Amino acid sequence: MDELVALCKRRGFIYPSSAIYGGLKGFFDFGPMGIELKNNLKRAWWQHMVYLRDDIVGLDSSTIMHPDVFQYSGHLDTFSDPLVDCKTCKGRFRADHLEKPQCPQCGSATLTEPRPFNLMMKTTLGPIDDPSALAYLRPETAQGIFVNFKHVVDSMNVKIPFGIAQIGKSYRNEITPRNFIFRVREFEQMELEFFVQPGSDDQWHSYWVEQRYQWWVKQGLDPIKLKKFNQPAEDLSHYAKATVDLLYEFPHGCEELEGIANRTDFDLGSHSKEQNELSLTAKVQENKHSVTRLAVKGDDNSWIVPYVIEPSAGVERGVLAVLHQAYTQEILGEGQTRIVLKLPFHLAPIKVAVLPLAKNNTHMVEVAQRIVKMLKKSQLGWIVLENTGSVGKSYRRHDEIGTPYCITVDFDTIGQDGNPDLWETVTLRDRDSLAQIRLPIKELVAHIRNVQEQRDDE
Ligand code: GAP
Repeated sequence: MDELVALCKRRGFIYPSSAIYGGLKGFFDFGPMGIELKNNLKRAWWQHMVYLRDDIVGLDSSTIMHPDVFQYSGHLDTFSDPLVDCKTCKGRFRADHLEKPQCPQCGSATLTEPRPFNLMMKTTLGPIDDPSALAYLRPETAQGIFVNFKHVVDSMNVKIPFGIAQIGKSYRNEITPRNFIFRVREFEQMELEFFVQPGSDDQWHSYWVEQRYQWWVKQGLDPIKLKKFNQPAEDLSHYAKATVDLLYEFPHGCEELEGIANRTDFDLGSHSKEQNELSLTAKVQENKHSVTRLAVKGDDNSWIVPYVIEPSAGVERGVLAVLHQAYTQEILGEGQTRIVLKLPFHLAPIKVAVLPLAKNNTHMVEVAQRIVKMLKKSQLGWIVLENTGSVGKSYRRHDEIGTPYCITVDFDTIGQDGNPDLWETVTLRDRDSLAQIRLPIKELVAHIRNVQEQRDDE
């Protein structure tokens, strides 16, 4: 983990937040490389969940929601972790994270009894800071989907089974944020709520567990390090009938990367029921709530509240997993080693770096610029020109950030070495095999595409 954290900072992936003021626990910032990796992972998820299917549509809902949403979703009453205080050093810890009843900070055994601590972050809306202005930052993106369920059904041509997908920020006031970006207080989730006919839910649950497992393997995770874990009944969230976690062997241990829950009709039912009940209260007379039943036509054409299968993955945990999986230290011989991030092509922040061999050779730099322009047009992704004059150093940097290809423009390319056969050719270096091949400039795009297609099919 320490090596990965150091690489992330050194190479522009992830920085501690507010670092110049001493940092803020549980918050991180993504640098120029990190944002690319994160966006690429989210894009791959959206591609798989929305564009490659006919039964899922997207959504982007607010991160701050009406307090009633969390009252009726059950989060205000139950979304808490057990908190204990150390009476000696005043440290605060999650009781279920302690290996023994002892303070992990000072070793004292004088701990308070565990008490529930609600993880939702609060804010106030508008200029008056009183309880009526209280609102919550969402602890999961899911509630934004449930409260928009009727909007989507009314405005789109959807029929169960269908899903609504969302990627967005969630906030949790974690008692002990830890393990780099694994447990943080502000993070992103990639969530799907897939609405099905009650009775078909168990089958759909198994289907999504398998889909999600295979998707993570496509992101480069080693199947041996990826495990399915059935949550025992006593650990299930208040809304779940069953949950399968996908666990990954992170540097700090084998822990949850994604959870796939069968949420039954808990959320749609509870928002419907409660809103119906509210019709009897003053609130509706004030016209604050409409009476809505969150139902759709089921298989036999009668109105039903669908069941929901929910695959929910954390973006930061995904980034940590793919970084950890990709991080490789290789011995090159003669005491030389290299660090290389073996990221899949579609996740790599920079796809190709073009390197002129001689920094001050105008002709060479012009050819490099022409190649960059051509590659950018081909829409392979982020392409950079790096004119440092030190190809060896550039190779090392690009290995560490996972750039799949480096192209070197040299004297042969511009015809200065007198070999006419090599004119308009360049060296293409493969990050993983370190193989270097000579290719005509005009064949570069087709070659890179072919190799990638072959690797994607493997
Ligand atoms: N809507 C369901 C839900 O939120 P969850 O198991 O609490 O379920 C889903 O969270 C995923 O969100 C987790 O598997 C994890 O990847 C991510 N996640 C949850 N809390 C997190 C935290 N404090 N920091 C980073 N990621 C977190």
